[in-house]
Amino acid sequence: MPVITNIQDLKRIYKRRAPKMFYDYCESGSWTEQTFRDNTADFEKIRLRQRVAVDMTGRSTASQMIGQNTAMPVALAPVGLTGMQSADGEIKAARAARDFGVPFTLSTMSINSIEDVAEATNAPFWFQLYTMKDEGFIERLIERARAAQCSALVITLDLQILGQRHMDVKNGLSAPPKMTLPTVANLATKWRWGIEMLQAKRREFGNIVGHVEGVSDMANLGAWTNEQFDPSLDWNKIAKLKERWGGKVILKGILDAEDARMALKVGADAIIVSNHGGRQLDGALSSVRALPGILDAVGDQIEVHIDGGIRSGQDVLKAMALGAKGTYIGRAFIYGLGAMGQPGVTKALEVIHKELDTSMALCGETSVAALGRHNLLVPKDFSGVWQA
Ligand code: GLV
Repeated sequence: MPVITNIQDLKRIYKRRAPKMFYDYCESGSWTEQTFRDNTADFEKIRLRQRVAVDMTGRSTASQMIGQNTAMPVALAPVGLTGMQSADGEIKAARAARDFGVPFTLSTMSINSIEDVAEATNAPFWFQLYTMKDEGFIERLIERARAAQCSALVITLDLQILGQRHMDVKNGLSAPPKMTLPTVANLATKWRWGIEMLQAKRREFGNIVGHVEGVSDMANLGAWTNEQFDPSLDWNKIAKLKERWGGKVILKGILDAEDARMALKVGADAIIVSNHGGRQLDGALSSVRALPGILDAVGDQIEVHIDGGIRSGQDVLKAMALGAKGTYIGRAFIYGLGAMGQPGVTKALEVIHKELDTSMALCGETSVAALGRHNLLVPKDFSGVWQA
């Protein structure tokens, strides 16, 4: 086993071990992938301010997100089909997050169900909700999340319709994979994945299969979203969902100051500045570029989190120093999961933690709460001059 020192090491192993169909699903953005590329490239444009001769003893990366203690301000983002990247992937990732002391968010479109994860972890996690036409199903999902003692509901707002990622169409993405000739040929080279998958608790969308009827193709994410997702979602419906849940609510997919103000109005506990990892509206701003404007609009009234493009502790530091109150990693933990299962997710968290801790120290900071704009060198034109 090679020595793993960074997230890219995990990605290389992941690419070798995971079926092509699921690697491509993870590693794609929509259409031209401009926003997907910008998410990482824009983090690189921000530089850190090195400070010296500052006592760096007694440092801590400990933080809080929506009032919950975290070992560092990094949560695992909801990622669809995680249990196809590695057998029982959601259980593995949730256990790694629990042991590390960071929040885990389970996607509606997960393979392991809410109940599987609750039983396997015995620790509160967050549940991400897609709103669907079938209100009864949504009510039951919310009740199931409540019964599992999920400690926050993360409502995704930017996927009423699925952005096209070309490779998913070409690969015929499905869970479980349909046994076409190219897929069989590819799976034949992924023996470790296959052996583990044979023993997996589930190979289908666990929150859905057995919980709804009359769906034409339960295995195909594109077909499911087309038929089931609620295109009429609006702020009234969001307010009703919030009321029904009654607990902490995080609204995910905010990229515009106007929408951030609406989120504030419905009384969300936090928002996630996000473009869905560049997987939805291609051509939208990167999340880190959108962050300052949203912080200016609502940052003093609501907790603002961010996802998209975070692949290192330096990225976490940059987001927090800009003023975010929490960050999420999606791909960065999937690389670890697909490379090495649960220890791989732990490795990804360790890598990011070490990078954050060391970078904080070299910036002359000993706590996350002390991070601020004074730690950054942001290009003058970073936010861009855009005309509506
Ligand atoms: C679904 O959440 C996706 O981005 O594929």
